[in-house]
Amino acid sequence: MTRNALHSRLLAFALCAVTSLGFFPLPSHANDVEVASKELTTLFRAARKVLSDNQDLINDASKGDKGLSADKVIELTKSNFKQAAGKDLDLTDDGSPTAKAKLAMLDAVKSVMNDAQSLINEQGKGFKGFLPAVFAGRVAKLFSDAMAGKMSIKLTAPKAYLRNRANKPDTWESNIIETMFKSAGYEKGKAYSERADVKGKAAFRYILPEYYGPSCLACHGDPKGAKDITGGTKEGGKLDELGGAISLVIYD
Ligand code: HEC
Repeated sequence: MTRNALHSRLLAFALCAVTSLGFFPLPSHANDVEVASKELTTLFRAARKVLSDNQDLINDASKGDKGLSADKVIELTKSNFKQAAGKDLDLTDDGSPTAKAKLAMLDAVKSVMNDAQSLINEQGKGFKGFLPAVFAGRVAKLFSDAMAGKMSIKLTAPKAYLRNRANKPDTWESNIIETMFKSAGYEKGKAYSERADVKGKAAFRYILPEYYGPSCLACHGDPKGAKDITGGTKEGGKLDELGGAISLVIYD
């Protein structure tokens, strides 16, 4: 080996060592937050899916106790997570922000379900308005409050389809929805992430598009302007059209 070749090998080795020791933490950190974001949004959707899967049960006027206790919903959330992620939900508390966030998310789910028991178990009442999006909005609020400026999550929608002003997209979210998610070439279901300030605070932002499936159109579909079962106004949305997004912020 020539002196030069040896030098460049040594240099390459030194660079690798420096990188792996974390002197250049950006790439691995960027990867960590990406992985955490995927896990947390998957968990959020896994919980909401329990509510979608059980809408008929929840709205069954003939039944009292629906058997959807907080513990039951947590159990179903974990099994939905496993199905979506292909692995068990790891709840080891290693003190990391992600571990805290997963526990905070499950606590939020428990709390929302405990508060909803008397509503969902009322016999003789059909439609109860305890929709997946309502559940998700409450979980998002409790989770974001509990994470106190470290993380926040939100279910949002394109501005033209917004029902609840509390879910209004901010400028960054709206921009990604309108210019990327709605563009013809954008890969369906692909999350978008980047570093961006949120109200002057440096953060990692992650947003995941969601589309109308057949079950959504009873409320969000045609005829546009007609009333749906909730008393809200149908958006005239089409099958597979972009209907919403889950937005997660991880502050530095
Ligand atoms: C029974 C009627 C109904 C069905 C079915 C329904 N939604 Fe909604 N959706 C609503 C209502 C009402 C709200 C407003 C909830 C609130 O007040 O927070 C809402 C809110 C949302 C939001 C939050 C943003 C906003 O506009 O406030 C998204 C996203 C959303 N729905 C998407 C979907 C998708 C996707 C499906 C199907 C998987 C679906 N919805 C099924 C009635 C429905």
